[in-house]
Amino acid sequence: MLQDKITQYTAEINAFSTDKADELEQFRIRFLGTKGIIKDIFEEFKAVSPEEKRSLGKVLNEFKQLAEAKYQSLKEHSDGTEVAADSGLDLTLPGEGFDVGTRHPLALVRKEIIGIFERLGFVVAEGPEIEDDWHNFSALNFPEEHPARDMQDTFFIKKGGEKGDIALRTHTSSVQVRMMEAGKPPFRAIMPGRVYRNEAISARAHCFFHQVEGLYVDENVSFADLKQTLFYFVQELYGEGTKVRFRPSYFPFTEPSAEMDISCTICKGDGCQMCKHSGWVEILGCGMVDPNVLENCGIDSKRYSGFAFGMGIERIANLKFEIRDLRLFSENDVRFLKQYKSALI
Ligand code: PHE
Repeated sequence: MLQDKITQYTAEINAFSTDKADELEQFRIRFLGTKGIIKDIFEEFKAVSPEEKRSLGKVLNEFKQLAEAKYQSLKEHSDGTEVAADSGLDLTLPGEGFDVGTRHPLALVRKEIIGIFERLGFVVAEGPEIEDDWHNFSALNFPEEHPARDMQDTFFIKKGGEKGDIALRTHTSSVQVRMMEAGKPPFRAIMPGRVYRNEAISARAHCFFHQVEGLYVDENVSFADLKQTLFYFVQELYGEGTKVRFRPSYFPFTEPSAEMDISCTICKGDGCQMCKHSGWVEILGCGMVDPNVLENCGIDSKRYSGFAFGMGIERIANLKFEIRDLRLFSENDVRFLKQYKSALI
């Protein structure tokens, strides 16, 4: 009797097929549910004679496996479009999308700056954020007790140690020193990195910011090379037609030194808040590497000359994205950060 039932249901299961989720659910309830056929048959099985149990046990298990296998294989192919009757789930509702992380605006700008200089053959160099006096100051021609050291308000970690003062680097020029000490010219490299200065935090100043500095040392490098390199950089970064001008300046490690302005990218020179109505904004410092610096790093200053430059990434990003408060870069407010999703991949 039980055998007959099993034979009949086996035929039914073998013949069954659907790609509809609700029909499959009906199948599951009918055969595999808590009040389903398999449950009933196992109940009946308890009452059969011991001899029958021996012969039927295996058949019964195979029948159960058949029903389960059928259900699993149809489930993989079901369209999932129908509402599962007893689950309360509407499988047609759209999923809950997840947010892909966004790049930080400073990372986007740094990547773009690096890309431009890489196309000119510059490589990327890095160095430590905790520096000694030699690499941050002395090798760069900052004389001892010279007021130039106050140009950059320094966070000192240790005063007067074995290697002189230890401090958080105030610029990535220290990486230029390390590079020149460790290798032989020619050098063509940029140094991106975080730098620290002891300044009160406001919309226009922060106690840390990010720089990209650059160094080019070879035979016969002139100020014309410096100008052309930086001119190309600005055209690539802010678009063709952006004007540049160089104003004489002073840095202990370059001679002559200059600051470079570009025509305001926001008002195009008409005058706005960003350029303080002058039409120009300063974006970097630069100059010909002082021969003293080359000699300090073991490079023959009679044979080699070079240029160097340094810029703040925040400043470049401010102009690119019209961000007026430096603090936004380090506050991690996702409402701010999310805006830069696809600005520059
Ligand atoms: N190190 C300078 C600064 O941090 C920038 C600079 C680099 C200027 C190289 C000239 C040459 O302000």
